[in-house]
Amino acid sequence: MQVGIDKIGFFTPNKYVDMVDLAHARNEDPNKYLIGIGQKQMSVADQTQDAVSMGINATLRYIDQIDKKKVGLLVFGTESSVDQSKSASLFVKSALNLRPEVRTFEVKEACFGLTASLMIARDFVRVHSDETAIIIGSDIARYGVGTPGEVTQGAGSISLLIKSDPAILALNDGHSAYSQDINDFWRPNGSKLAMVDGKYSTQVYLDFFKNVFDKYKEDKHLETKDFDAIIYHLPFTKQGLKANRIAIENQDEETTNRLQNSFEASKQLSMRVGNVYTASLYMSLLSLLENDELDSDALVGLFSYGSGAMAEFFSGNVVADYQKQLDEKGDLALLDRRQRLTVKEYEDTFNNALEEPKDGEELSSDEAEGVWYFAGTKNHIRQYKQK
Ligand code: HMG
Repeated sequence: MQVGIDKIGFFTPNKYVDMVDLAHARNEDPNKYLIGIGQKQMSVADQTQDAVSMGINATLRYIDQIDKKKVGLLVFGTESSVDQSKSASLFVKSALNLRPEVRTFEVKEACFGLTASLMIARDFVRVHSDETAIIIGSDIARYGVGTPGEVTQGAGSISLLIKSDPAILALNDGHSAYSQDINDFWRPNGSKLAMVDGKYSTQVYLDFFKNVFDKYKEDKHLETKDFDAIIYHLPFTKQGLKANRIAIENQDEETTNRLQNSFEASKQLSMRVGNVYTASLYMSLLSLLENDELDSDALVGLFSYGSGAMAEFFSGNVVADYQKQLDEKGDLALLDRRQRLTVKEYEDTFNNALEEPKDGEELSSDEAEGVWYFAGTKNHIRQYKQK
């Protein structure tokens, strides 16, 4: 039985800052951000958008197309958790009216969280072939105003429906994993800003990529040329470009061109949204599917990396007519609807979002009709509302 991705829903908040504006404000050459880092824009979450609301909004993109009675598992991967105890997924379950029998919880290992959820969901569907699983990755990347990491922030969510006989990507058996207890990036309790050993993190990411990619090919008796596309966790697109350069080293012209083109296709959303941690690799997948022309059965390699650190390489085959499942126009409209903030407005919005509203204070949102948002707390219980 084939199991894999049947639906993809994407959401990002309604504000962004332009990288050229940011470069000017930080006295940097814009090409450092545009080329050196590889980012054009960065989504900004105000106080009313958090991991939960973005996760609901991403799932809303496809919820009316599925049979909700079949959803047996709901897993939420995030490192922007809103509670130390209650799972973000329970708020989502309520908002989406999923049945009480659903098994639901939250998982964490930095950006690896959605891949962990995917593997749990794959195994669940293998055992319960009539049921489906919703898995959500939702995050706000925050390093702080004026930090070296600032240009690699972002906000957004990806929601995936996992089922048997999937309509988008059939996952292949097996994977190669590698983990090591290191301190490249972390966020201590009580801090809304991540701490990072930036240069070290970029090197570890590449070392882990080489490790799991080589091991995967060896285990599966595959060569680089067998892949139609390889996609990456993209903390910023230059990082993926460097990994892709490793992948295509010593390849013939045809393979090199193919994997360069597929990488270009896969980075389009990330370039405009920024780092969305857990959701990032799956935003690369969505971007690849929307911007490349893949034959049915095309082999896609996926590299997942979560700081701390955990990496995994796995693969899937594209399903015929996958295009019918996508909403490319809707995704572009979501990006185009965003308000361009001045750098001052971005700084104020960013700093305001670090504060918790006073208990009992009701927040209002400037999002469009139908969008869910965080409306403040009542008796320290988070309230989510739909516009
Ligand atoms: P930095 O020190 O500001 O940048 O920090 P730099 O001086 O290294 O320059 C960056 C690049 O721009 C360099 O290119 C420069 O040459 C180039 P490279 O050598 O890398 O090829 N450059 C220019 N290019 C064109 N025109 C110019 C120009 N000037 C310079 N005029 C850093 C960069 C990424 C370290 C920083 O932004 C940071 O700390 N970011 C956060 C950490 C991060 O994203 N790490 C990625 C790997 S870890 C990961 O992926 C996990 C993560 O997602 C978290 C999780 O798992 O949850 C982060």
